[in-house]
Amino acid sequence: MSLLRLQDLKQYSDTLRTRQGEALNVRFIEPRDTDELQHYFRSLSTRSRYNRFFGAISELPKGLLHDFLQVGERERFTVVATMMVDGFETIVAEARYAPHEESATLEFGLSVGDRWQRRGIATALLRNLECRAAALGAEHMFGDTLRANETMISLARKSGFAFVNHPDDWKLVRFDKEIRLAPKDIPCASWRLAALSRQADSPSASA
Ligand SMILES: CC(C)(COP(=O)(O)OP(=O)(O)OC[C@H]1O[C@@H](n2cnc3c(N)ncnc32)[C@H](O)[C@@H]1OP(=O)(O)O)[C@@H](O)C(=O)NCCC(=O)NCCS
Repeated sequence: MSLLRLQDLKQYSDTLRTRQGEALNVRFIEPRDTDELQHYFRSLSTRSRYNRFFGAISELPKGLLHDFLQVGERERFTVVATMMVDGFETIVAEARYAPHEESATLEFGLSVGDRWQRRGIATALLRNLECRAAALGAEHMFGDTLRANETMISLARKSGFAFVNHPDDWKLVRFDKEIRLAPKDIPCASWRLAALSRQADSPSASA
């Protein structure tokens, strides 16, 4: 899988749209987001947090908060989707993903703040993750969810994922999608940058 240039993370930011056309900025998390990220998770409903972490937590435990903030460490990446609310950049959704090079897959989990749900944000974010996955060379992307999480199951179904049993946990279901993005609709900066770096690595024979 192609490597990201971790020293310049801002270049991998994308602007998406909610169903109503509001702009969403999707970018890698930064150290300045620490308090805002914790505030985001504390503000989620108990149910949303349970569905996101498969257990009851009221906020991100210290170790996990640290992990969320380390972009690229152990090949794990956190992106946040932000919107301007009353003049402040506010986190309205987050996703964490991990490319697995040996299986050419990308594993992910995500959440959308309760106040912002049902506006097409997760749908747009999934599409963006699909493009990021393709840029990293993944051929499939997958996530796990509780069997009882009908919302995520419905979202995954609408987004073209198929369902399989989780290999080790009967309470979970795995949703998986083959990545087939057409270059004609390149929807993320990661793809453009990966294409440029491939070009630089192998200049044409006539050059
Ligand atoms: C699952 C989740 C990410 C969906 O986010 P969202 O931004 O509201 O999703 P969208 O607006 O893109 O909705 C897409 C589809 O998902 C389904 N959906 C979303 N919210 C739903 C709800 N409350 N009830 C039933 N279906 C729902 C619908 O099929 C919807 O399509 P529709 O609006 O055309 O009917 C969000 O509910 C969430 O963060 N839940 C808590 C965390 C979680 O469950 N994470 C998944 C585990 S990794």
